[in-house]
Amino acid sequence: MTDKGGKTSRAQFATKLGVIATTVGSAVGLGNIWRFPYEIGTHGGGAFLVCYLFFIFVIGVPLICSEFSIGRSARKGITGAFREVSGSRWMGKIGFIGVLTALLIMGFYSVVSGWTMEYLFQSVAGGLKYSTQAEYAAQFDSFSSGAFRPLFWTLLFIAINYFVLVRGVEKGIEKVSNIMMPLLLLILIVFSVHSLMMPGAWEGVKFMFKPDFSKINSSVVLGAMGQAFFSLSIGMGSMITYASYFSADTKLGRTTLVIAVCDTLVAILSGLIIFPAVFSYGGTPAAGPTLVFEVLPTIFHRIPGGMIWSALFFLLLFIAALTSAISMSEIGISYLCDEFGMSRKKATLVAQGAIAVLSVLCAFSFGPLADFKIFGMTVFDLFDYVTASILMPVCGLLVAILGGWLSRKGFLADELTNGGGLRGRGVSLVQLSLRWICPTAIVLVFLHSMGVI
Ligand code: PHE
Repeated sequence: MTDKGGKTSRAQFATKLGVIATTVGSAVGLGNIWRFPYEIGTHGGGAFLVCYLFFIFVIGVPLICSEFSIGRSARKGITGAFREVSGSRWMGKIGFIGVLTALLIMGFYSVVSGWTMEYLFQSVAGGLKYSTQAEYAAQFDSFSSGAFRPLFWTLLFIAINYFVLVRGVEKGIEKVSNIMMPLLLLILIVFSVHSLMMPGAWEGVKFMFKPDFSKINSSVVLGAMGQAFFSLSIGMGSMITYASYFSADTKLGRTTLVIAVCDTLVAILSGLIIFPAVFSYGGTPAAGPTLVFEVLPTIFHRIPGGMIWSALFFLLLFIAALTSAISMSEIGISYLCDEFGMSRKKATLVAQGAIAVLSVLCAFSFGPLADFKIFGMTVFDLFDYVTASILMPVCGLLVAILGGWLSRKGFLADELTNGGGLRGRGVSLVQLSLRWICPTAIVLVFLHSMGVI
C-alpha cells in the first residue's frame, strides 16, 4: 500500500474486474449523462456526434493507451510519471497542468454532483411534481439561484469523497465501482427503451443521429474534442494515476477498448433517453447545462412508480459522479504523496480542501455570483470552458508527444504487449496516431477556433 506516501510498495488493484470497474467508473460519469446530452443539444445534433466519435476512437483511444503506458511504467502520479518517462525535469513540472485541471474540474463537478443529490432528495420527498420541461426549468432555477442549498449539497459531496478516498484505492474505490456500474448500465437501457416508445420519439433519434454537415463549425469541432477528452477522463492524468496501480499483467490495450466502448455506449443511451422525450413533450434540446435536470423529471412524472424510478436513477447518477470525482481527486492526492511525501490522510485533506474553496465559487455562479463574469462567463462556465477546451487538449498533446516521441525507443510496444507477452496488434496504429494524427488534429482545432486558419 502507498498509505505512507509511496514509501512502501505502491497500492495495486486487487482484481481484473477491479481494474475495469474503476477505469470505466472514472470515464462514465456526469460527462456522459449530464454533459453529453447538453453539448449535443446546443451543438445541433448529429453533426456533433460524428465529430465526437472521431475524437473518441482516433484520438482518445491512442491517448488512453499512452496514459496507461506512462503511468504503469513509472508507477507514479502525473508529474513524476512525466519526469520519469521523458527523463526531463521540465516535463515533470509541466505535468502540473494535469493537477490544476483536476482541481478546476472538481470545482464545478462537485456542484453538479450536488444537484444530483438534491434531485435524489426531491424524488424521495415528493418534490418533483410538475409535467413540463418549462416548469422544471423554473424549479431548477429557483433551487440553483439560492445560496444555501446548492452549497450544502456540494460540500456534502466533497465530504463523501473524502471518506471514500482516505480508505485508499482498493478498499474504497474498487468496491463501490464493482457493484454500481453494471446496475447503472441496466437502468439506462430500461429508460432508453421506454423513451424510444414515446409518440414522436423518432424526431429525437433523427436529431441525434442524422448529421447535418452544414452545421459543422469550429465551435462544434472544439466542443466535440473537449467532450471526448472530458468523457474519457484523458488529458489530466487520471488514467496515468490509475495505471500506476495496475499490475504488470494488466492488458492495457484491451482495457482501453472496453473503456471507450462502454463510455460511448452510456453517452448514446443517455441521449436516447433525453432527446426522444424532449421532442415527444415539445421541449427544447438546447437548454444547456440544466437540460437533464429539466427533462428527466418530466419522464419520471408520467410513469407508474415514477418516484421510485426517479430516486433510483439519481442515486445511480450520484454514484457514477462519485467514482469519476474520486479518480479526479486521486490525481492531486497521488501528486502530494509522491512529490511531498505526505501521508494519504493529509494529502486527501489538502486536496479536498482546495476543491471545496473552488466549488463555492461555482456553486454561487447561479445565484449570489451570477453577475460576476470573467471574459463574459460565470466562474462555473469559465472552469468548464477552460478545462475542456484548453487545458485537457494541451495536456493530451503532451501525452501524445511523450508517448509517441519523447519516450525511449520501443516504450509503447513494450508496455502495450506487456514486455512481448501479448501479440500487440494495433501498436503501430497507436504509435501513428500519437506521433502524427493527435498532435496535428489538436493543433488544427486550436488554430481554427482561434481564427488563425
Ligand atoms: N470522465 C468523467 C465523466 O465523464 C469526468 C472526468 C474527467 C473524470 C477527467 C476524471 C478525469 O464524468
